[in-house]
Amino acid sequence: MIYFDNAATTWPKPPEVIDAVTRCIRDLGANPGRAGHKMSVKAGEMVDSTRKKLARLFNIEASAYERIVFTVNATGALNLAIKGLLKKGDHVITSTMEHNSVTRPLYRLEREGVQVTRVRCAGDGSIDPGEIKKSIKQNTKLIAIIHASNVTGTVMPAEEIGSIAGEAGALFLLDAAQSAGVLDIDVKRMNISLLAFPGHKSLLGPTGTGGLYIRDGLVLETLKEGGTGSQSDLPGMPETLPERYEAGTLNTTGIAGLEAGIDFIMKTGMDKIRDHELRLTQLFIEGAQRVPGLKIYGPTGDAPRVPVVSFLIEGRKSPEIGGLLDKNYDIACRAGLHCAPDAHRTLDTFDKRLVRFSFSFFNKEEEVIRAVDCLEEIVRNNITLPEGEGGCGC
Ligand SMILES: Cc1ncc(COP(=O)(O)O)c(C=O)c1O
Repeated sequence: MIYFDNAATTWPKPPEVIDAVTRCIRDLGANPGRAGHKMSVKAGEMVDSTRKKLARLFNIEASAYERIVFTVNATGALNLAIKGLLKKGDHVITSTMEHNSVTRPLYRLEREGVQVTRVRCAGDGSIDPGEIKKSIKQNTKLIAIIHASNVTGTVMPAEEIGSIAGEAGALFLLDAAQSAGVLDIDVKRMNISLLAFPGHKSLLGPTGTGGLYIRDGLVLETLKEGGTGSQSDLPGMPETLPERYEAGTLNTTGIAGLEAGIDFIMKTGMDKIRDHELRLTQLFIEGAQRVPGLKIYGPTGDAPRVPVVSFLIEGRKSPEIGGLLDKNYDIACRAGLHCAPDAHRTLDTFDKRLVRFSFSFFNKEEEVIRAVDCLEEIVRNNITLPEGEGGCGC
């Protein structure tokens, strides 16, 4: 199989990740932080060691590693940040390129009295930071922005947006779902107050992993209450982090795999990984010119991007193309709205949907060339799905 759905979750994972998961189940299977016995302590040490590595990756103060709380995915982290922070009467600025894990919590909070400004992005997915600045109000509490689009691969100017937030006295939430493990993220330089990231995408960990960094001094409402293994006599959640936001047993095996994923990135070099992935992206963009009627949406030229690229083939339905790639050619990709309907409205592709390819370090040039050949064959020979087969994507 050719797997080009890495923006959803990366596959395959490095062998080191699989080994770490197996080792954890076999040797570190106890509940971390819940008991004083040796295996529980060792499991807790592994979890903390993963927090410390994440802190290093995002340039979080070494002493603040406990301000990274584990969630089951980026959605969990974004919900905690948004719902834990915003109250009726607060104003939040966001963009029209956001994923549903930001837009849906905000639509809900809007119904409950939170004011939301959605800054319209351009046809290539990019944002004008000046428009964010213009949207600031006295009650602006938060600027919540995607770092890199999961539809077009467009990279937002996080550092500039962070400084706008700082000048306005607002907090800055960065959705790093498509950038953690791909782009340099520096919470200090970018003035990030809240950083939401998945562990299972470009950090190469297993599904069921993710986290939220919460800047020192920020206290969020908890979304879940339960056991923490500490201060059990309290009726409510402890104030100390990470326990305050980590009710219930952690995904220790997933976190062990995530640690191995981070180790892999550190050892290989994020630059080397990104260079390879962007080379594949470029190869696809160039090759796609051979396919009649294929139009790519997103950044062109030297504009910064991540290895996510979406396209439409004139006169064809994107889910059908996704279905044909899967069924006839064993190429896994994602066609549809990509959980980002607002982004598709921005690109004017809501009705047509798009086909998305997203590359990882483990993809090869031959695979990209093969995918272009397959697309060309589909178009030139007008290959369609058999009657009644609905395609792939929504
Ligand atoms: C930009 C963006 N934000 C948030 C998410 C949600 O991530 P998760 O699947 O880890 O909840 C995704 C998932 O694809 C995404 O692309």
